[in-house]
Amino acid sequence: MKGKLGLLASLVLVCNYFPVATAQGSPNSKNAVVVDGTNFELHGDHVSYRFHVDDSTDDDHPLAGDLLLDHFGGSVFGPIPTELVPSTNGWVGMQGRVRREFPDQGRGDFRIPAIRIRQSEGYTVTRLQYQSNTVVPGKPALPGLPATFGSEEDVTTLVVHLYDKYSDIAVDLSYSVFPKYDAIVRSVNVTNKGDGDITVESLASLSVDLPYQDLDMISLRGDWAREARRERKRVDYGVQSFGSVTGYSSALHNPFLALVDPSTTESQGEAWGFSLVYSGSFEVNVEKGSQGLTRATLGFNPKHLSWKLGPGETLTSPECVSVYSKDGVGGMSRSLHRLYRKHLMKSKFATEDRPVMLNSWEALYFDYDQSTINRVAEEAAAIGAQLFTLDDGWFGVDYPRTDDDAGLGDWVPNPARFPDGLGPLVENITDLKAVNSSTNLRFGIWVEPEMVNPNSSLYREHPDWVLHAGSYPRTETRNQLVLNLALPEVQDFIIDFMSEILNSADITYVKYDNNRGMHEISSPSNAHAYMLGIYRVLDTLTAKFPNVLFEGCASGGARFDPGILSNFPQIWTSDNTDAVDRIFIQLGTSLAYPASAMGAQISSVPNHQTGRSVPVTFRGHVAMMGGMFGLSLDPAAIPEHEQAALPELIALAEKVRPLILKGDMWRLNLPEESNWPAILFISEDGSQAVLFYFQLNPNVNHALPWVKLQGLDSQAMYSVDGNQTYSGATLMNVGLQYEFDGSYGSKVVWFEKQ
Ligand code: DGJ
Repeated sequence: MKGKLGLLASLVLVCNYFPVATAQGSPNSKNAVVVDGTNFELHGDHVSYRFHVDDSTDDDHPLAGDLLLDHFGGSVFGPIPTELVPSTNGWVGMQGRVRREFPDQGRGDFRIPAIRIRQSEGYTVTRLQYQSNTVVPGKPALPGLPATFGSEEDVTTLVVHLYDKYSDIAVDLSYSVFPKYDAIVRSVNVTNKGDGDITVESLASLSVDLPYQDLDMISLRGDWAREARRERKRVDYGVQSFGSVTGYSSALHNPFLALVDPSTTESQGEAWGFSLVYSGSFEVNVEKGSQGLTRATLGFNPKHLSWKLGPGETLTSPECVSVYSKDGVGGMSRSLHRLYRKHLMKSKFATEDRPVMLNSWEALYFDYDQSTINRVAEEAAAIGAQLFTLDDGWFGVDYPRTDDDAGLGDWVPNPARFPDGLGPLVENITDLKAVNSSTNLRFGIWVEPEMVNPNSSLYREHPDWVLHAGSYPRTETRNQLVLNLALPEVQDFIIDFMSEILNSADITYVKYDNNRGMHEISSPSNAHAYMLGIYRVLDTLTAKFPNVLFEGCASGGARFDPGILSNFPQIWTSDNTDAVDRIFIQLGTSLAYPASAMGAQISSVPNHQTGRSVPVTFRGHVAMMGGMFGLSLDPAAIPEHEQAALPELIALAEKVRPLILKGDMWRLNLPEESNWPAILFISEDGSQAVLFYFQLNPNVNHALPWVKLQGLDSQAMYSVDGNQTYSGATLMNVGLQYEFDGSYGSKVVWFEKQ
């Protein structure tokens, strides 16, 4: 140890060679990846990501062959100053003082590693050193996992090959750059090249080391009916960790992280966004190490991994999307939204028009028969719905689903409720003319395929199909157990019964629900094996039924993640349909996910979850900020004045829909910070915009605030609701004022560029 008390005595240069990179011009898929020897540059329109291989020639040097990150932030070209690193005084080795691209463990870096492998001999040391690289036009698919996609015009991939010669483990890091979206997507392949078994105990899809600087971290936490609450806090020394061990992504935390400069706001400042394309248990760590550098890792939750690899076998991690913006948290979100709409969501409905839906859940719950359903469907068509969805309760023969304690798993219509089966019911409903629409009413159905009630024929026949751990009691949640989708026979069962239902009648929409977490899994690795199973099921079903609009759901938004979005273009955002709470939930969700992906509906008042009463216009305005506008109430119970407001609300929802589905979202005022939450959507070509403006509490005898727009063309003129015309500069620098009458006021304002 050099120097007294381990004080830092000198500075050393970690790497002393950088090439003089040439300016490559504006990035496109051709020059988004620049490889110069062992120096790597990834470029988006406004982002650069640069790393290199440590060039120590002495293989005994602890960093020899290590990948070191030089920069992840705004665009740079040419040489960048070499990072100065305090010399190795103290316990922390050189590996713990530098910015490592893929930190292994057991060799003096005491921070969170990106990988931890248990060798057959029992030790967990790894030393992954650079071997070679490959550049691939486009982006190869990830075997069995959801992933972003794009053509050779959209994306380029760099694969860096690492090898641990002491235990014969190969690791490939794949970096795919989508220049237009300032997005870099990383995944990791681990291959056992040795003779014995190894176990991957932890694996981060992404690990990134940012330099010494103050940072805030933003995450989304919650629970049932209060999903996606935005949480911002300073990154402190030590590890700050969150994740899910529920087996699914969950409502407890979302697989999303933002790191931002402490001065960053919604509209300005540096923001790094990270979004894990996975629907299972995950872990996010943010660690400010003893040297002050910040490391973030996102990937599998190690508590649900322990993945054994025999000789020649490979484990592929889910991918993690990173975006960077200088335009604040809003800029970061818009990059993710655009990328996800165009390069993650496979469904044709991702940006396609969707019908106005009436869902039976909050109208009837489990309490109905065929005539009630016919009555509600007729009334739905008469008030302007274009799709009627039959929610929970339609199935079960020996164990009829008339409550939540029976029937899951028995996907045959309940003969007591539907004596003629689904076919005639659907025909009857799809014969109804939807008022003010050129189409007939469409039919949608609810399913919860991954679950089973012990009170079901399926469970009697296949008790071994559920997740269980030996003779431990199989604990129930909502009276149900989880089918083990790691089993191919369970996957096939779901594919078969779903195909049968969808082939049996003209069903154009499916609400695919999932209402509990996993308990008693047989081994930690069962959790990821389940995920591979569910992705096979979803891929198969959505490929087989491309014209069916699938909406994901998990007790509301407990599986609102990019893995699900890859197959389902829409996810039910929350069971909480209270419009005020929904502003918080939908805006929180929008940190990572586009508005087009959010299911939102008008429900009745007093609200069933909160007891609050909010005017129907306010409820309608909040609901039309989602991808599919709808209602979840009994039409017969709608008061007359609300009935009268519906046609106009539906017409407005249809008018704004293209902007919600394809436009950019600007969060002007957040509900956490303002009594006047405000959201602006601007069409893709910038010619139209729509402002949603709300007042939560009364503003008695007090001046009115101005709402300043963003993202407009300052030089252009815009007509406001077809009346007055103002310049973009005026709308953004002066703003507009609106007056509301008491609590829960709302206003939708339409802008046309002249
Ligand atoms: C939970 C969902 O989030 C609800 O919308 C509803 O479909 C129920 N399940 C039905 O059991």
